[in-house]
Amino acid sequence: MAIVAPSILSADFNNLLEEVKSVSSAEFLHIDVMDGNFVPNISLGALVYKNLKGKVDMVFDVHLMINDPVKYAKDFISAGADYLTFHYEAVSDVLGTINYIKSLGAKVGISIKPMTDVGVLDPYLEYIDLILIMSVEPGFGGQKFMDNSLDKIRYLYEKRQTNDYLYLIEVDGGINSDTAKQVVLAGCDVLVAGTYIFKSQDRKKIIKELKELWLLKLCVQE
Ligand code: DX5
Ligand code: ZN
Repeated sequence: MAIVAPSILSADFNNLLEEVKSVSSAEFLHIDVMDGNFVPNISLGALVYKNLKGKVDMVFDVHLMINDPVKYAKDFISAGADYLTFHYEAVSDVLGTINYIKSLGAKVGISIKPMTDVGVLDPYLEYIDLILIMSVEPGFGGQKFMDNSLDKIRYLYEKRQTNDYLYLIEVDGGINSDTAKQVVLAGCDVLVAGTYIFKSQDRKKIIKELKELWLLKLCVQE
């Protein structure tokens, strides 16, 4: 499977509903929340996407790049987050954060920055629904893909195979047709793409092409 998650960070915020509708052939909608503290940029809060809920049939994949995810988790989930992903580097009590988000009724994701070792996630793999591997430094769209993310994806893919874990593996940052192929072959399930989708002439076509990449992985397995 290749799930596509257009990142609204690259959308035109003056026309957000139409922008989101234009990418609604994708299954996930990736929503980047930045606090100007965990990352050097401020993006949007729960109020911005609350009104989109119910207007498109998409899974709301909320990526929190903030320092205190527990404080705001309730707000983000009430506003419609189906998956709520926090950063490993932003909390001291990882398991407590996982359990708290689950208790609020959302699926929980955990993300690591490019310089964080994937092994730090080992103790939590059995509890989480999604792992978000950052393939750029979080904070801005339009950056170049960092290929140290590929080994992390392979590691998580193998761990899942051998242990029957259930998490989805998602990659975020610098995804285009070339890098998408690489991450899918490495074992990625969910492709976040901002610039590549929103700046293209034919968003539907790009989404379709990205979705079809799962066939690549199938071919390699056979
Ligand atoms: C960056 C965000 C990404 C960003 C990706 O911190 O988490 O979701 O929108 O943008 P592109 O696809 O342009 O690299
Ligand atoms: Zn993101």
